[in-house]
This record gives sequence, structure tokens and C-alpha cells, in this order.
Amino acid sequence: MLKIMHIVGARPNFPKVAPIMAEMAKQPDRFDQVLVHTGQHYDYNMSQVFFEHLEMPTPDEYLNVGSGSHAAQTAAIMTSFEPIVLKHRPDCVVVVGDVNSTVACALVCAKIGVRVAHVEAGLRSRDRTMPEEINRLLTDQISDLLFTPSKDGNENLIREGVDPAKIHFVGNVMIDTLVKLLPQALQRNTLKKFSMKAKEYILVTLHRPSNVDDPTVLRGILQAMAEISQDVPVIFPVHPRTRSRIHELNESVPKETLQLVDPLGYLDFLALMNAAKLVVTDSGGIQEETTYLGVPCLTARPNTERPITLSEGTNRLTGSRYQDLIEATRESFHRQNGLFRKPELWDGQTAARIAEVMLKK
Ligand code: UD1
Repeated sequence: MLKIMHIVGARPNFPKVAPIMAEMAKQPDRFDQVLVHTGQHYDYNMSQVFFEHLEMPTPDEYLNVGSGSHAAQTAAIMTSFEPIVLKHRPDCVVVVGDVNSTVACALVCAKIGVRVAHVEAGLRSRDRTMPEEINRLLTDQISDLLFTPSKDGNENLIREGVDPAKIHFVGNVMIDTLVKLLPQALQRNTLKKFSMKAKEYILVTLHRPSNVDDPTVLRGILQAMAEISQDVPVIFPVHPRTRSRIHELNESVPKETLQLVDPLGYLDFLALMNAAKLVVTDSGGIQEETTYLGVPCLTARPNTERPITLSEGTNRLTGSRYQDLIEATRESFHRQNGLFRKPELWDGQTAARIAEVMLKK
């Protein structure tokens, strides 16, 4: 029997951990599971709604760390997590993705000699101004098992000197959740609720500090989206960080065509993404989900840690400048959706492969 402790903290963690827990729950004689929520995200629509939509168990431990600077938040997670891991004494702690909760818990485990498995290992933007890139680099260096979503991840890890025996290419676990829940998402009346027609609207999400914390950059993006919305309606579920930055700008947004709404739950967001004419985003996960769905995606960033979405998928990098966003959006309306394919092992079976490897290692 393996005692596994799973860590979740921020919104993108939930659809990655849910399928792993569901898979392990099918094998109760092999896995004993504990779920820890750090509380990095705490609003209902940033956290609890995902537990409901993804049918995740209530966390066994809730650390309630909340928001703060990177140092304060990471330190708070480490300090509260250490006694929890010592209390439960798991055989292995599973961390996912690249948020502060990921690196904080991995570091605690590495120092006290508890094995760490990192799911979504090996992704690199090569942009160290991104907090997530630091989290990815450090977490991978101190993990004992590294599960990669694409083979570029294996190459990056080997280049950084990681022992190849620790690396396992298993595919994209978040796609397991998408495959499972797409039928449910399609049954909801989401488009109607927001008065959108299939393939006749643009879905926008933005929350990277590099896009929203600088007023000039944020103003340019909002102006571009407002202008585009004169031609095609735009729906923009607004992350809390972005909401407060927009508020600080103190400028009016043309509400008739540019619809700013609260963050959505998993199922409504998936329904909107699936039927969008185009998605404009700076998220990591959405680049992958649009690639899987075959929906065109423009990423408002200069780089991506998910190059497979460019080479095989529907993603394009535009940067964040007003003119570049306008041009790329208009161009995307006229471009045939080129050849794309679902990347290797993005097949809904990744959690099963992770569980199998964990039993052997
Ligand atoms: C975090 C992750 C980022 C991920 C994103 C997804 C890090 C370094 N960043 O960024 O990788 O893409 O989550 O959402 O871990 N806030 C609320 N309610 C909440 C959560 C946050 O109001 O439930 C507000 C607070 O004002 C907070 C700000 O949002 O200060 C930012 O939250 P934080 O967790 O620090 O970073 P994110 O931008 O959400």
C-alpha cells in the first residue's frame, strides 16, 4: 500500500489532481490518499466550484495561506505544510504544475527526505522573469519522479542533468479531465446564458503579471479587445488580480460588446472555450486545451513553455502590444485552420499511466 499525498493550491492545479485521485481511488488496496489544499486560491469561483465540477473530495488538510508577496506566500506554505507532512508521513507527495504551492511543498519534502513526484515536469519558457519558470526549474531539480506531458519536457530535463531514470513521458493529465467532462459541459446552457452564438465570439483570459500589472500594457490589451469587439463580441472572465488592476486603471470599458464577467467554473469555461471562434489568453493550460479542442488560440506572451501547442496545435504567440493583437486577431479570421493534431498521449489516459509508474518506482 502506497500512501500518497496530493497538493493543490491554485486554480490550474485542480483539473490536474482530480484525475490522478480518481484513478488511485479505483485501486484502494494499492493507494491510500491524502489531499492538502494550501489555500493559495480561496474565492468560491477560484477554488470551491472546481471541487464541485471535478467531483474532488474535500481536502483532508486546509492550510489557509491566502495571498501575499512571492516570498511571504511561499514561506507561509512551507511553514504550514511541514507539520502536515510530518504528521501524515506519506510515501510520496505529488505536486503539479508551476505555482508557488508546487515549489513550496516540493522544497519542504526534499529537505525532510520525503519523495516528491512532479506532474507536468520539464516545461520551459526560458524566461526567468516569469515566477512560474523559477518554480518549474527548482521543482524539477528536487523531484524524485518527473512526469512529462510532451517529449520536449524530457529533452529539457536531460539537458539540465536530471537522471533519465526519473523521467517518465506520460502525456497531459489535464486533458484527462477535459475528455471526461466535455460531454457534461456541452449539456449546459452556457452560451445562451451569456448570449453568445457558437463560433461567433472571442473568449479572452488574462492574468500574467507581465500583462496586467503594467498599466500601459494592460491599457493596450484592453483597447485592442474593445476595438475587436466592435466586429466580433468578446467575453472576458476576469481573474481577481486582473479585476483589481482594471479597477486601478479607472477607465471605462465598452460594456455592450466587451463583456467582462466573473471567473467561471470548469464546465462553463470549457463550454465557452469549445465553441469560441478564437481564444486570446496568457494562460498555460488554455494553450493546451484549445490545441486539444482544435480551437484557434492567440497567446499574448513573447514565449511559451508549451511549444508543442505551436508546432502541432492551434496556438500562436502574438506578444501583448495593441497593434500586434489587432493584426493577429484579424488575420486569424481569414486563415484556414491549418493542420493540427492532438499531441502524443494527450488521450485521457495519463492518470492511469502515472499511477502505474508510481506503483513500480
Ligand atoms: C497564480 C499562479 C499562476 C497561475 C494562476 C492561475 C503563482 C506564482 N502564480 O497566479 O501561475 O497561472 O495562479 O490563476 O503561483 N486573489 C483573489 N482570490 C483568490 C486568489 C487570488 O482575490 O482566490 C487575488 C489576490 O489579490 C492575490 C492575487 O489575486 O493577491 C494574485 O493571486 P496569486 O495566487 O498570488 O497569483 P495569481 O495571479 O492567481
